[in-house]
Amino acid sequence: MRFCRAHRGRRWWLAQSSRDCVWRPLGRFVRAGMKAVRLLEYGGQLVFNDVPTPTIARDEILVKIKSTAVNHLDLVKASGTARQILPIDLPWIPGHEFSGVVEQIGSDIAACAPGDAVFAANETGGAYGEYLAVKAAAIGRKPSNLSFEEAASVPVASQTAWQGLFTHGHLEKGQTILIHGGAGAVGAYAVQLAWHAGATVIATARGDDEAYLNSIGASRVIDYREAQFEKVLREKVDVVFDLVGGDTQKRSFLVLKEGGHLVSAVQPVSQKEAAMHHVSGVMMRLTPSGDVLGGIGRLLEEGTIRPDVATVYALRDAAQAWKDIAENLPRVHGLSSGGPGSAGRKSHGKIVLRVA
Ligand SMILES: NC(=O)c1ccc[n+]([C@@H]2O[C@H](COP(=O)([O-])OP(=O)(O)OC[C@H]3O[C@@H](n4cnc5c(N)ncnc54)[C@H](OP(=O)(O)O)[C@@H]3O)[C@@H](O)[C@H]2O)c1
Repeated sequence: MRFCRAHRGRRWWLAQSSRDCVWRPLGRFVRAGMKAVRLLEYGGQLVFNDVPTPTIARDEILVKIKSTAVNHLDLVKASGTARQILPIDLPWIPGHEFSGVVEQIGSDIAACAPGDAVFAANETGGAYGEYLAVKAAAIGRKPSNLSFEEAASVPVASQTAWQGLFTHGHLEKGQTILIHGGAGAVGAYAVQLAWHAGATVIATARGDDEAYLNSIGASRVIDYREAQFEKVLREKVDVVFDLVGGDTQKRSFLVLKEGGHLVSAVQPVSQKEAAMHHVSGVMMRLTPSGDVLGGIGRLLEEGTIRPDVATVYALRDAAQAWKDIAENLPRVHGLSSGGPGSAGRKSHGKIVLRVA
C-alpha cells in the first residue's frame, strides 16, 4: 500500500490494483466510475457504458467482479412481463451471480478480507459491472480448482438444484427422482447432487444429451421429443423436479408415488391436483445462502460434481449472450426464438460473461 504524501497524516492511500484507481481515504472508497451493462427501460436494448461505482454499507462487501453468468431471470425481469412479482429499479444492471475478488469490506464484516476470491448469487442483479456491493451472508469462497469463469457459472443453478432436491423435495438415499430438463444448467446440478445423495436418477432431455447425462449420474434418460415419460416409466417416483413446466408438469402427477413431492422451479403447482394425487406440490424460488454454497464449493473442490460452461463472452457482448439464451426462452424480451428443442445451441452449460 502506498500512502499519499500530501495526506500521509490523514491515512490516504493509492489502490494500485485498481485500473481506475484514485486517492482515497482508508475505509471510505471514492472511485471514478466503472463499466457496466445496463437496461434503461423495460424491453429496451442493453447499453454498455460508465456508471458510478457502488458504495458499501457496514454489513456489505465490495467485490471486483471477474465473471458473471446469464440466467433466464435476467431476461424475464428485463422484459417487464413479470414486473408485478419481479420488479426492478430502472436503469438496471442485470446479473444474478458472479465470481470475483473482495475489494473492500464494511466495518461489521469479519468473515472475509480484501483479496479473497469469492462467488455468490444475489437476488437483485447488478453483476454485469466491474464492481458489486453485496451482503456477506450469501458469499462463498471460490473453489480453488475452478477458474473465475467456471465459478461464476455455479451459484444460481447449483443452489436452485440443491434447494429443489433437499429443502423442498426432501430427497433421501434410496429414493427415485425424475428431473425434467436434466441437461439444462439447473438440471445438470440436480442430476449430480441427487446421484451423490444416493438416489436413482431419471432425467428427461433431448436424446443427444443421453451420454452426457449418463456420465454425470442419470441411470435413465427419456428423450422428451420421442416419448411421453408417463407412458414409458415402469415405476412411480418419490420426487419430480420440474424445470420445464406446462404440460410436462401436469403429466408429472401421474408418475408420483403417494406422499411424493412435485417441486417446480418454473411455475406454480396446482394444489387441487396435488391433493387429488396425494402428493405435495410447491413452486420454489432460490434463496441464496453462503452455507449452501459452501457445501457445493466443497463438492466441486473434491471433484464430486463439476461445472459446465457452454460459451464465454466479453461483458460488452451481453446482448449477443442474451440472444443465445433466448433460444430456450420463447416470447421473452421480444427476441426471436426457436423454442425448446431448437437446433444450433449446445443444450447444456451456462453462458458466462468475462468482466475483468
Ligand atoms: N425458481 C428459481 O429460483 C429458479 C432458479 C433458476 C432457474 N429457474 C428456472 O428453471 C428453468 C431451467 O433453468 P436452466 O437455467 O436450467 O435452463 P436451461 O439451461 O435453458 O435448460 C433448460 C433445459 O430444458 C430442456 N427442455 C426443454 N423442453 C423440455 C421438455 N419438454 N422436456 C425435457 N427437457 C426440456 C432444454 O433442452 P433443449 O436444448 O432440448 O431445449 C434444456 O436442456 C428456467 O425456466 C429458469 O427460469 C428457476
